[in-house]
Amino acid sequence: MAARDRYIFLGFALSVSILVESVIDEELSRFLGDKEELLRSLEQDVLVGYQRKCGAQCSFDRNIYACSSPLLEEESVCSQEYGVSIYTGTGCATCANRKLSLSRSYIRTPSREATCTDTLNRDICLSQGLDSSFRENLLPIDGQETGVRWQFFTSQSGMYRMFPGVAQERCHDFDPRLRAWYVSATTGPKDVVIVIDSSDSMAFHPSTSSLTLMGLTKEAVTSVLWTLTHLDYVAVVSFATLAQQLTIQNKNTLVQATRDNIQALTQEVKKVEPNGHTNFEAAFRTAFDILRRSEVVSRTAGCNKMVLFMTDGEPTRGEREPEQLTHIISSLNQREDGSKFASIFTYSVGELADTTITKKIACTESGVWSEVETVGKASLAEQLSQYYDYYGTLREGQGQVIWTEPYKDAFGAGEVVTAAKAVYNTSTVPQTLLGVLGIDVATSATEKITTDKQDLFDTLQSRSSSCADIRASSVCELEQLRQKVYEQGTIRYENNSAKWCDLSLSQECSLPSAEPCDNQSLQYSTCMNHSMAQVDYVVTSCCSRYDQPCPSFTTRISVSLHILSLLVTVVLSCLNILQIS
Ligand SMILES: *[C@@H]1O[C@H](CO)[C@@H](O)[C@H](O)[C@H]1NC(C)=O
Ligand SMILES: *[C@@H]1O[C@H](CO)[C@@H](O)[C@H](O)[C@H]1NC(C)=O
Ligand SMILES: *[C@@H]1O[C@H](CO)[C@@H](O)[C@H](O)[C@H]1NC(C)=O
Ligand SMILES: *[C@@H]1O[C@H](CO)[C@@H](O)[C@H](O)[C@H]1NC(C)=O
Repeated sequence: MAARDRYIFLGFALSVSILVESVIDEELSRFLGDKEELLRSLEQDVLVGYQRKCGAQCSFDRNIYACSSPLLEEESVCSQEYGVSIYTGTGCATCANRKLSLSRSYIRTPSREATCTDTLNRDICLSQGLDSSFRENLLPIDGQETGVRWQFFTSQSGMYRMFPGVAQERCHDFDPRLRAWYVSATTGPKDVVIVIDSSDSMAFHPSTSSLTLMGLTKEAVTSVLWTLTHLDYVAVVSFATLAQQLTIQNKNTLVQATRDNIQALTQEVKKVEPNGHTNFEAAFRTAFDILRRSEVVSRTAGCNKMVLFMTDGEPTRGEREPEQLTHIISSLNQREDGSKFASIFTYSVGELADTTITKKIACTESGVWSEVETVGKASLAEQLSQYYDYYGTLREGQGQVIWTEPYKDAFGAGEVVTAAKAVYNTSTVPQTLLGVLGIDVATSATEKITTDKQDLFDTLQSRSSSCADIRASSVCELEQLRQKVYEQGTIRYENNSAKWCDLSLSQECSLPSAEPCDNQSLQYSTCMNHSMAQVDYVVTSCCSRYDQPCPSFTTRISVSLHILSLLVTVVLSCLNILQIS
């Protein structure tokens, strides 16, 4: 080839590849856009459902608890696309398929304690209208499988409605509010610095716990790390006599919270050992250094920033005087224009922890302080929920759709990406979070469009990158958050005089109370009976134990398709008739 021809050829090849790429991008965009559309229409269903309010015609008879026995549906179908049943005893061990209900969603609750609460019962009732959309979303479009797997709604009380319906062996170990898609949908992209105390005293072993304070803290930090997604940036600081960042890849800035990075960070957290004194000042200096450095090199989500600070003691090194220390932190947290850099959340862990300074810091920085007892039921991991409740409360406008990275579905549906959207009632002042909707999409379906993982990753990120609008909080809202207690999957408000930043506000501000259903007899009928769950799990979850073979998933779909095409034919012929006449 002559040089000129070669250039022409190269130019041609380049333009073809650009063309192919843009066709792929367009197709991927359309594919993801379709799923976002499904979420928006499910959102309408939630809003219509919640419009009915509590006390209206609530009927629970069509809701099936994923663990309860008598109601689990008989007319299930079998599928391999949603994994195998968890049970591995006799019979089920050989079961390759899972029994699903394609007609109804099933309910789960975050804990036994939560199961019978009024708010949870209300949520079960008001969200039951979602089923018909769930069913429709599963139908193939133009004969093409849509890649839609699980569809779900989690209310603020932790009620989890999942479709297709499937029996669950482990009833109460799943609090969906601690999942990354839930947190990410309510907070939007964010920068998080987690600061943990690793002084000597963290070796203390409370008699009520199987772990030391250090162990409890590591568990909690790990669970917070897993609530982050690739949309977020994160750093972990450990402090004792001095403070140091737990670095990965030698980066002394925030790192993107990809699954690989989180995995690496949790390994670093595991290595922390209690040793030395307690230096709050060094801890906060390091945290804010990281935030500032990261802005300089653009390693930031560019949205809201927060510092989560955990300690079991009181300062013994660095600045120790409460007034002075708070002053130092305030100036660290101030930008040149006077605005605050980050929201600060402080946690006092265990009975010996300082409560004066940690509370004072949160109070002066418009943050939230909480005391985590190791004696009571509230676990540190749950109490940490306060940081995203803050955003759920202060957010303005409807939530954006966020996409997670590809990950392996916990219930066995293979590799999926989750699209999630928070649903708010924007008519109330302030607006109220009703819950978060999600759709899992099999990556096997996106692979038909592109096998380039980086391309998919970048596209998912750019579609989810807009910041949540966080308005300024009112003093009462912050005081309410400070009185909020999370335990065993339930939420309640206490009126604890030690927790008010300004005790005089305890007269002015009211605390939200759970709105009980007017008619208590409307309570979910199988409410108390979930302990009987195990009895028939084998029968209800596993196809090979079923006396009669289940019809397969695809037959059911094609039957629905058939009905659909019949309908279309009827409609078309009606139109024809109209046209003729
Ligand atoms: C939103 O709140 C308003 C005001 O309290 C109420 O009238 C309306 O029914 C609520 N709508 C939904 C969908 O919850
Ligand atoms: C909290 O308790 C105090 C004292 O018992 C009481 O005066 C105040 O009204 C209570 N505040 C709220 C919001 O319940
Ligand atoms: C409460 O529920 C009971 C039983 O379902 C029903 O008979 C009664 O009419 C309901 N009362 C109201 C006020 O809805
Ligand atoms: C719970 O189950 C037992 C045994 O089947 C039954 O007698 C009882 O009525 C059930 N209770 C409720 C509240 O459904």
